[in-house]
Amino acid sequence: MTSKGEQGFAFALAAVFLVVGVVCYAAFPQGTPEEPVRIMFKSTAGKILFDHMMHTDDAGYGIACDDCHHEEQDESSSCSGEDCHGPETDPKRGDALHMNCKGCHEEGGAGPVECAACHIM
Ligand code: HEC
Ligand code: HEC
Ligand code: HEC
Repeated sequence: MTSKGEQGFAFALAAVFLVVGVVCYAAFPQGTPEEPVRIMFKSTAGKILFDHMMHTDDAGYGIACDDCHHEEQDESSSCSGEDCHGPETDPKRGDALHMNCKGCHEEGGAGPVECAACHIM
């Protein structure tokens, strides 16, 4: 048997938990996943060091996320997600990255376009 007092306390406690839960949910949104600093790509033509942070930072090259992540960003922002750039898709992952990376460097007249300038290792 629970007394009215205990019941009231239980309801009050439940209400407090609810408020705390809502506040925490609102205060810490899941949002976009954290941006990587640097990425080392491996390929059959050697490794490529990509300074992700430098490309996006306002003090760097200041490029907008969707210039590269051109589809709505999913949880991982990977280029090779389902229905994206895989080994059999058109364009394939390697071609898509070449078009994006090299394309901008060529157009902007800044950044490496020679194979060995990207494939450094
Ligand atoms: C110059 C091109 C470029 C820009 C600009 C850019 N990214 Fe990326 N980002 C990439 C590439 C390429 C990868 C590697 C994806 C892969 O390996 O499939 C990547 C990876 C990521 C990853 C990790 C994905 C994973 O699978 O681990 C996140 C998160 C991410 N980017 C977020 C962002 C956010 C947020 C911004 C904007 C502030 C941004 N990116 C701007 C090119 C870019
Ligand atoms: C929208 C334009 C744009 C895209 C897309 C882009 N870059 Fe760049 N990149 C630049 C600019 C601008 C520079 C700076 C060149 C300079 O200041 O000499 C640069 C410089 C670089 C450099 C040399 C300096 C450094 O920061 O390391 C590398 C390597 C590089 N980019 C790799 C990549 C790769 C790999 C990708 C694709 C995943 C990519 N970039 C996509 C604009 C771009
Ligand atoms: C702007 C930087 C950049 C330049 C310039 C560049 N690459 Fe790449 N390359 C990449 C990136 C990024 C990948 C993708 C790596 C991955 O899949 O994670 C790649 C992948 C590759 C691959 C493996 C995937 C595929 O498409 O078969 C080969 C081979 C390759 N590059 C050859 C070359 C050659 C040859 C040149 C010169 C004509 C060149 N690359 C110029 C950045 C570059």
